[in-house]
Amino acid sequence: MAIRLGDDAPDFSAETTEGTVNFHEWLGDDWGVLFSHPKDFTPVCTTELGMAAKLKPEFEKRGVKIIGLSVDPLDSHKGWEKDIEETQGQAVNFPMIADADRTVSDLYGMIHPNASDTFTVRSVYVIGPDKKVKLTLTYPASTGRNFDEILRVIDSLQLTAKYSVATPVNWKDGEDCIIVPAVTDEQAKEKFPAGWTTLKPYLRVTPQPNKVKGESQTA
Ligand code: BEZ
Repeated sequence: MAIRLGDDAPDFSAETTEGTVNFHEWLGDDWGVLFSHPKDFTPVCTTELGMAAKLKPEFEKRGVKIIGLSVDPLDSHKGWEKDIEETQGQAVNFPMIADADRTVSDLYGMIHPNASDTFTVRSVYVIGPDKKVKLTLTYPASTGRNFDEILRVIDSLQLTAKYSVATPVNWKDGEDCIIVPAVTDEQAKEKFPAGWTTLKPYLRVTPQPNKVKGESQTA
């Protein structure tokens, strides 16, 4: 059964390049990103892992832990990580799950047999501090993911969680947000002291709450 938004993120214990990870315990109260790679020593994955490692400080700034997965054993991951550092100029600085028996891949439905029986697809799961799945993405093996987009979605999710705003099409950090329909105008007066513009009763635009002077700068 596919994992859907709002589901509990399945818990697991797995061997990783940074020792055994008990997933929920490892997440603690942080957000998490779990992402799969089709196979070790593959070109697109090599570039993705270098980029994820470069962006680790951006994930940390947002209180997000990242963890990768590939269906190969630990010694293979360790050998591959040398290549990643050499070719991408960045060492992998987060755990990589060695899922040779596909326990975690099966738990999360990362193998799509009609695409490949042996490789995982490129799955991404963003998990909230409540251990619920907040985002799923599925890319084919031949298309590298956009990790800036993953950060952008996390910014949006965290704004929604903290301020009851949604983010419009192509939104980028710092741009105006939308007050969620569940918030009444009366409640909005309290929540959005910077005010808002009503384009339609259901479309109320307000400055990004954590960029308004006097507000905390972290979502
Ligand atoms: C890659 O990571 O480059 C890749 C993996 C599987 C199929 C195609 C590309």
